[in-house]
Amino acid sequence: MVTARRISASDPGAVGEAARCLAEDGLVAFPTETVYGLGADATSGTAIARLYAAKGRPRFNPLIAHVADLAGAKRLARFGTAAESLVEAFWPGPLTLVLPKAPDCPVADLATAGLDTIAVRLPAHPLARDIVHALGRAVVAPSANRSGHVSPTTADHVLADLAARIDMVLDGGPAAVGVESTIVACLDGAPVLLRPGGLAREAIEAVLGAPLAVPDGAGEKSPIAPGMLKSHYAPRARLRLNAREVGADEALLAFGPPPSDAGHARAVLNLSAGADLAEAAANLFSHLRTLDATGATLIAVAPIPRKGLGEAINDRLRRAAAPRPRPEPSATPE
Ligand code: TXA
Ligand code: MG
Repeated sequence: MVTARRISASDPGAVGEAARCLAEDGLVAFPTETVYGLGADATSGTAIARLYAAKGRPRFNPLIAHVADLAGAKRLARFGTAAESLVEAFWPGPLTLVLPKAPDCPVADLATAGLDTIAVRLPAHPLARDIVHALGRAVVAPSANRSGHVSPTTADHVLADLAARIDMVLDGGPAAVGVESTIVACLDGAPVLLRPGGLAREAIEAVLGAPLAVPDGAGEKSPIAPGMLKSHYAPRARLRLNAREVGADEALLAFGPPPSDAGHARAVLNLSAGADLAEAAANLFSHLRTLDATGATLIAVAPIPRKGLGEAINDRLRRAAAPRPRPEPSATPE
């Protein structure tokens, strides 16, 4: 593989080419409404092994199976009453459900990291659904970035991380939501919020009529998303969170009216001048990449409210700011 082919999503042959490539165990990046995903045939152990290698992703970290419709989801997993009401309210959309695996689930064991549960998602982006539909099988798709890096919201971001490691990227313009799907586990007991994301907790709790539980990490009864590593979404620069003033050589990631000393900053980008959380989520990863590219060693990030999509934004920023115990992933795939 030399370098990934870039195909415009408006090219009439795009979906067919993507599906053919996936059917031959290829790796195809495509837009979803949240972030760009790196797709592989969910039933092919060979394709999935290539996917883990391309991302440099630890194999204990399972993947989300993307489906084209609810019938496709029900071939993979068992839906209880809470799961049924959530899909009724929110699918297609930025909500992933972790459910008990169906007995004859065709997804390769490597994709679920040996768990007896599976993460399933019906994306709102029509192109993502069309690709799955054209392949005729589920497609596993993690975010299309090197493991631990910032998630991609454009085809350029995908190529910056993975050009030499994947076969194709479908360019459908910037992702609308900008942060990954919210993940909720519906297993035994109350539904658990495993990852805040593009669907606000408040909306989910309104449908359930009860608060979502949080994972306490205390044993088998409490599921966790193995991918929720403390340090993740990391740019090269360090992040300083909840910053109300700017240091001399810092870049500034503002939210709402910038502080009066913003003029000192080496570079300034605003997540949303009007303090709109949906706009901020859509800009988050792309602004982090742009400020990182200025060469600043420190990015000061303004405080962002924790309600609605602010929960996911603060979660990603906290992980991007976390100490990094491990060196950058090496250039050699595992
Ligand atoms: O918005 C999204 O969800 C994007 C787009 C491409 O669909 N995908 C995405 O995938 O964010 P990824 O691989 O970057 O994150 C998937 C998360 C990981 O934290 C993983 O540990 C968790 O889902 N996960 C997958 N299967 C699981 C399972 N059976 N139980 C618990 N967590 C699971
Ligand atoms: Mg990811």
